[in-house]
Amino acid sequence: MGWIYRNCLRSLLFLQESEAVHNRVLKGLSIAGDFPLLPMLTDGLYGAPDLPVQFAGMRFPNPVGLAAGMDKFAAAVPMWERLGFGFAELGGVTRHAQPGNDAPRLFRAVADRALVNRMGFNNPGAEAFATALREWRARDDWPNHPIGINLGKSKITPLKEAAEDYAFSLRVLQELADFFVINVSSPNTPNLRKLQDKAALDEILKTLRTVNPDKPLLTKIAPDLASEAIDDILDLATHYSLAGIVVTNTTINRPDTNDSRCKQIYAETGGLSGAPLRERSTEIIAHIFNHTDGKLPIIGVGGIFTSEDAWEKITAGASLVQVYTGLIYEGPSIAGDIVRGLKARMEKEGVRQFAELIGKS
Ligand code: FNR
Repeated sequence: MGWIYRNCLRSLLFLQESEAVHNRVLKGLSIAGDFPLLPMLTDGLYGAPDLPVQFAGMRFPNPVGLAAGMDKFAAAVPMWERLGFGFAELGGVTRHAQPGNDAPRLFRAVADRALVNRMGFNNPGAEAFATALREWRARDDWPNHPIGINLGKSKITPLKEAAEDYAFSLRVLQELADFFVINVSSPNTPNLRKLQDKAALDEILKTLRTVNPDKPLLTKIAPDLASEAIDDILDLATHYSLAGIVVTNTTINRPDTNDSRCKQIYAETGGLSGAPLRERSTEIIAHIFNHTDGKLPIIGVGGIFTSEDAWEKITAGASLVQVYTGLIYEGPSIAGDIVRGLKARMEKEGVRQFAELIGKS
């Protein structure tokens, strides 16, 4: 299936403007559930075999999830499971509805299998997002896998009021998802990444813990942090009993390239995702796994296209992985292909339990 996408469909899709394709695909997925048999057909074509993982007290049917940013409007909640994903992180959602930055704001660097985006948290706001989730629940079309929500800060909220902005969204959404990811690492909201500083993040986590002391909370970090800054965040993660850490968001750095089109795209402001991010994100996963003796669960994300890439992240210390850019380049069979590849390699290497793989390298 992946071959057909990569060699036929992708070229057609890539003739169109990136965000336009994204919106059309999401629209298609959102109405797919209304057609008889289509959801079952999708499941049959793209579903993944079971490879269960326990994480933060939850059971994940497989370790491959959808990364934040793909479904910012809760448009296709039941479809991610049918496309083989073991969980989905919806959003980023902010307290206030906001349009995001001016278009164009999403660019493909095809030769490098990368994207640059400066979407800027375009989203309907926490209350409308909650309404959309309630509608899926009312239709009895809720997935069996865990659902996470990525929370961002509204652009109009000053940094010093950030904690309350996140807290508002958590209050509104807390009953509607299994876990929440506190996103302080998007490069596309001015100064958001300053919230990764120890004092600022401390205040946010303290406030969120008073809103809900029990809900699994994770934080998501940027790949551009120095190891001292990462270690500060790890201290807070322990102090506030975070359920885990998502590693990593997009980078503001750019790789060297001789490809003239990639050069042009890399000159755009925004966060870079995809293949050039892979190594750095794996390096941080390994650092965190070693620094915490594997005690802080990690969701690994950044440049995963194949089961080998996922294997690399898991053996470096990730318990779960996520994809975004890989879905654009590899197509809808990516989750199932990765899970099948992981299972085959486990069998070949005599690994019986998935848990044995985590941090093995
Ligand atoms: C993202 N990402 C993202 N992350 C986040 O925490 N909140 C968000 O709202 C978004 N939005 C978003 C939009 C777009 C267009 C892209 C490409 C990415 C980051 C994403 O979840 C992931 O961390 C990175 O893209 C790295 O993974 P991949 O893309 O290399 O698999």
